Amino acid sequence: MSDKSINYFCHNSSYIDENVTIGKDTKIWHFSHIQSGAIIGRQCSLGQNVNIGNNVKIGNNVKIQNNISVYEGVELEDYVFCGPSMVFTNIKIPRSEFPQRGTEYYAKTLVKKSASIGANATIVCGVTIGEYAMIGSGAVVTKDVPPFSLVVGNPGKIIGKVDKKGNRIK
Ligand SMILES: CC(C)(COP(=O)(O)OP(=O)(O)OC[C@H]1O[C@@H](n2cnc3c(N)ncnc32)[C@H](O)[C@@H]1OP(=O)(O)O)[C@@H](O)C(=O)NCCC(=O)NCCS
Repeated sequence: MSDKSINYFCHNSSYIDENVTIGKDTKIWHFSHIQSGAIIGRQCSLGQNVNIGNNVKIGNNVKIQNNISVYEGVELEDYVFCGPSMVFTNIKIPRSEFPQRGTEYYAKTLVKKSASIGANATIVCGVTIGEYAMIGSGAVVTKDVPPFSLVVGNPGKIIGKVDKKGNRIK
């Protein structure tokens, strides 16, 4: 990267559209695409095959593992962890025959500070995942998750509480 004003890393195989903001020391690995209007904070890590949709806002120190699309309508606060191949959505009732294209159709999903989402979990749009919540791998989240809650299963159910490090509180 010869442009000295760029202080993040982006692998040559990835695309960054116009009008994108990326913070210092963020790393974007192979075969990824950052779409127009996205704002990504400092010291984030975006793995292989990551798509960041138009106008998506991502905080600082966020980790997005391989094979994840963060669609428009999703916001990730600081220190959020997204495990490999987890899935966000932004249309609750999708129909090819009745397309819902454009910002006004997208249901908002907010993942609050320091929440973690396990590998292969699915977040049905329109929910807020509270601070430090822990979503188990493979869970399907269909409702708001209170802070520090542990959610597993399909549909996701709260089975306990976790501390700041993610360990269960007995
Ligand atoms: C299945 C779906 C269409 C139902 O929508 P809805 O009728 O508004 O459903 P509600 O949110 O009122 O949920 C009704 C019940 O079904 C459960 N539920 C909803 N979606 C579920 C899912 N995907 N898996 C398991 N349970 C689900 C809810 O937990 C709720 O359970 P409860 O009655 O015990 O409280 C929707 O939740 C969904 O999964 N949409 C697909 C999203 C998607 O993949 N979009 C792709 C394009 S971005």
